[in-house]
Amino acid sequence: MDNGSYDEHQAYCEGLCPEEPEYLNALKRASYQKLMHPRMNSGILQGRFLSMISHMTKPNRVLEVGTYSGYAALCLAEGLSENGKVISLEVNDELAPFHEKHLFTSELGKKIEVIYGPALASLPNISESFELIYLDADKENYAKYYPLLKLKLRTDGILLIDNMLWEGKVLLPLQEGDIQTRAILELSRMIQEDQDMELVLLPLRDGLMMVRKKS
Ligand SMILES: C[S@@+](CC[C@H](N)C(=O)[O-])C[C@H]1O[C@@H](n2cnc3c(N)ncnc32)[C@H](O)[C@@H]1O
Repeated sequence: MDNGSYDEHQAYCEGLCPEEPEYLNALKRASYQKLMHPRMNSGILQGRFLSMISHMTKPNRVLEVGTYSGYAALCLAEGLSENGKVISLEVNDELAPFHEKHLFTSELGKKIEVIYGPALASLPNISESFELIYLDADKENYAKYYPLLKLKLRTDGILLIDNMLWEGKVLLPLQEGDIQTRAILELSRMIQEDQDMELVLLPLRDGLMMVRKKS
């Protein structure tokens, strides 16, 4: 019996999601018109999941690594506590005019601050700690981000990491020179061996790892 492909399962899940709020829809439309690689937006299923986690944790401070259009930053902002804020790190400062015009203009977008520059350089200058962190940037540096992000995560805080299945490459023999898959595998191992952390890898889209800081 054919129970449907992976893509069909994802489409079914997406079909059950509530409609995207208008501000997200508008941002997505603008990103398809004005930006390269609009498929980098987290998309409805993952976006609604990020929003759900944000509503459940009601964070005061959220950190994102890899802003792109700001789609996920908006989803993460949806459950912020009053006076809460999302700080998002983005290497590409050419996105700044897009953010000015399409992200910071919505009510929720005003709660998002983008810091431009390589995240590994920006992170040590951020003094705050966070209840929720979303890592979705340069895969080759994933393992380098870990100690910095762990330091910034509050106890019982949640670290979400995208692309941890990396289109299934994590299951195949590692190819020489594949620094992205190597870093993803290394990060998985580091977290799994870390007694302070507890992980669950969800097969959502390209693999969303959820990590709780126990102590
Ligand atoms: C997959 S996109 C992020 C998508 C976004 N999180 C969302 O779901 O809407 C990855 C982003 O990470 C950014 N990026 C890549 N390397 C980076 C670095 N070293 N520091 C900060 N951002 C980086 C890219 O420019 C790109 O905008």
